[in-house]
Amino acid sequence: MKKFLAIPSPFLLATIVAVGATGITACSDSETKAVDRVEEAEALARVKSLEARAAEIKNDMAANPGAKLNISMPDESTIPDNEYGAAVRRGLELANHTYRELPNNVGNKLNCTSCHLANGSEAYAAPWNGLPGIFPIYRSRDARVNSLQERVNGCFQRSMNGTPLDLDSEEMNAFISYMTWLSQDMPIGVSPEGRGFVKVDNTLTPDPVKGKEIFANTCSTCHGDNGEGQYNDDGTYVYPAVAGENSFNDGAGMARTYKAAAFVKGKMPFGQGNTLTDQEAIDVASYFTHLPRPVKANKDKDWPKGGAPVDVRR
Ligand code: HEC
Ligand code: HEC
Repeated sequence: MKKFLAIPSPFLLATIVAVGATGITACSDSETKAVDRVEEAEALARVKSLEARAAEIKNDMAANPGAKLNISMPDESTIPDNEYGAAVRRGLELANHTYRELPNNVGNKLNCTSCHLANGSEAYAAPWNGLPGIFPIYRSRDARVNSLQERVNGCFQRSMNGTPLDLDSEEMNAFISYMTWLSQDMPIGVSPEGRGFVKVDNTLTPDPVKGKEIFANTCSTCHGDNGEGQYNDDGTYVYPAVAGENSFNDGAGMARTYKAAAFVKGKMPFGQGNTLTDQEAIDVASYFTHLPRPVKANKDKDWPKGGAPVDVRR
């Protein structure tokens, strides 16, 4: 075998693959490596073709701006009547009633959809459409590649001030099933316009004193004088807490001034998004994010390889 290996030919490669596939295990070390190389080449080719497809879709979108990817809630009649469909429905329920349904994992009184508005399917409110085709992805916050499941747990530990779900739990499966169903019309690997939040000018200096005034005038009717929220008799909210013990902790993305400002600018006051200026959104965000709230342990370990944004809390 060895002397053939010096002369790679498609025929030889095909033979090696065939030998590998029939499960013949009596390979020498150098043959095993040759098989690895073939598999590596095939995997690379697959990645290249996916990248080409993603580039094609991006080009189409640039050439045809009217045909933007549509971030929305698919018709619920498309949820299939089988076990997958049942998991999708459970995911939708968990997203909207996280506090009520998952008391062991939620440490405040929020739901996922307190921030991921309209069932996690609203553009510029960090929608989930397309995410199963975008994750796993490298995140500088923990300087490693994160699965979508790990990203969900990030929000459990910070936004929900709670504890992570077991990665192989029914509940995690339900969340991922729901996100997969939401993504049925999204191309793989393309980050859609409307992912995340609108942009705000991060060079503006926040003024929390002005922010306090804005909060009293434009936010407190719903969120309460001190951002504590308003509640039904069963403990679920009418309007969610943006501060205090029922709110997200200080390690959450929403606890960062510019990140919160980007959400507020695009989506608040509720139903009147994009009415505040960047400066007003940044001022009010610097005020409410720094009101008393749960403290995230070990947040000094975030961004272990550097690159932490300026508004990160330590
Ligand atoms: C207090 C607000 C808040 C709540 C509640 C919340 N999140 Fe998030 N979530 C965020 C923010 C902020 C981001 C980051 C958005 C960005 O940077 O574009 C985020 C990002 C995400 C992402 C990644 C989005 C992307 O585009 O990469 C996922 C997935 C996610 N959250 C899932 C959940 C789930 C599931 C829940 C409920 C268990 C939840 N979140 C609850 C604020 C929240
Ligand atoms: C008319 C009532 C109303 C007003 C006014 C309003 N909000 Fe909200 N806000 C909501 C509702 C409702 C939600 C949650 C949506 C849901 O559960 O579907 C929300 C969600 C939020 C969230 C994410 C969830 C959380 O509790 O952390 C933040 C942050 C927020 N609002 C900040 C603000 C700020 C800042 C202002 C003022 C500029 C403001 N809101 C004005 C009704 C309001």
